Amino acid sequence: MNQLIVHCPAKVNLTLGIQGKRLDGYHELETIMQSISLEDTLYLSSEGTGISLVADYPGLPVGEDNLIYRAAVLLRDYAGANKGVRITLKKQIPLAAGLAGGSTDAAGTLRALNRLWGLGLTAPELEELGSQLGSDVPFCLRGGTALARGRGEKLTFLEGPGDWWLTLVKIPVSISTAAVYHSFRLEAVTQQPDQEAMLDAIRKDRLKEAGLNLVNVLETVTIPWYPEIGAVRAEMVERGAIGALMSGSGPTVFGLVADRAEAIRLAAAFRDRYREVYVVRTLSNIGDNLSMISL
Ligand code: C5P
Repeated sequence: MNQLIVHCPAKVNLTLGIQGKRLDGYHELETIMQSISLEDTLYLSSEGTGISLVADYPGLPVGEDNLIYRAAVLLRDYAGANKGVRITLKKQIPLAAGLAGGSTDAAGTLRALNRLWGLGLTAPELEELGSQLGSDVPFCLRGGTALARGRGEKLTFLEGPGDWWLTLVKIPVSISTAAVYHSFRLEAVTQQPDQEAMLDAIRKDRLKEAGLNLVNVLETVTIPWYPEIGAVRAEMVERGAIGALMSGSGPTVFGLVADRAEAIRLAAAFRDRYREVYVVRTLSNIGDNLSMISL
């Protein structure tokens, strides 16, 4: 029997700007997304004709609402394949954290099952299916560094920066992305990100310039809700981070730091108060990170 192992990296948003609300209810975005070395792992084996999912994570629903399950059903129906799979998820990315944990698992499922079931779908076909599952799924299918527009699905992939190190602190609250967008008011925004400046910082691998240009307009919603997000962000900078920001719709805050030793030092300053603290680096390209093993 063959088993496929797929690594599913999380992302942070180095910038997140919003132009306005669209007629379909979604918001028009401009955001620079960056894969990071915090990842979930999926183990998939072809089995029977049913789809089953097992996770090692307390509190994670593994039923038909789970994005992994939905990705598998969507792909199977689209391809008209009479196939089954048993999927085991080893979860490390915190839930509802603003790190695209659910989206990256869905993207990994689509890529892995396309291979395991021998479907031969093209990358644009997988992207189209992915966008039906969530706005971040098309980015997660390829990963690395990208400027995303539209709902988040119009992607321009970029050459990533060198290894940038980050310290992540997940504030212990769960935030619904839909609720954050629902409460977003363009009038409350005083600063939109300068995407060109951030793109330039990435291109030239300039950490300081990147640190100065970290802007996420969704903080205008979440920081008034949870001032702790703003406090952790400020503390990271006081403790020497080059810049700090909330990722996505939160509540995770990341600090951009000079190197791995700094990231470890900054993480240590938060570990006594927070359970979910991570030291990560940027991933320039997740490539075809599927490995097939014979059991
Ligand atoms: O696409 P996804 O399911 O990840 O989005 C979750 C929710 O976030 C959507 O239901 C929508 O309310 C909001 N959203 C938005 N504009 C976007 C992306 C997400 O309003 N560009």
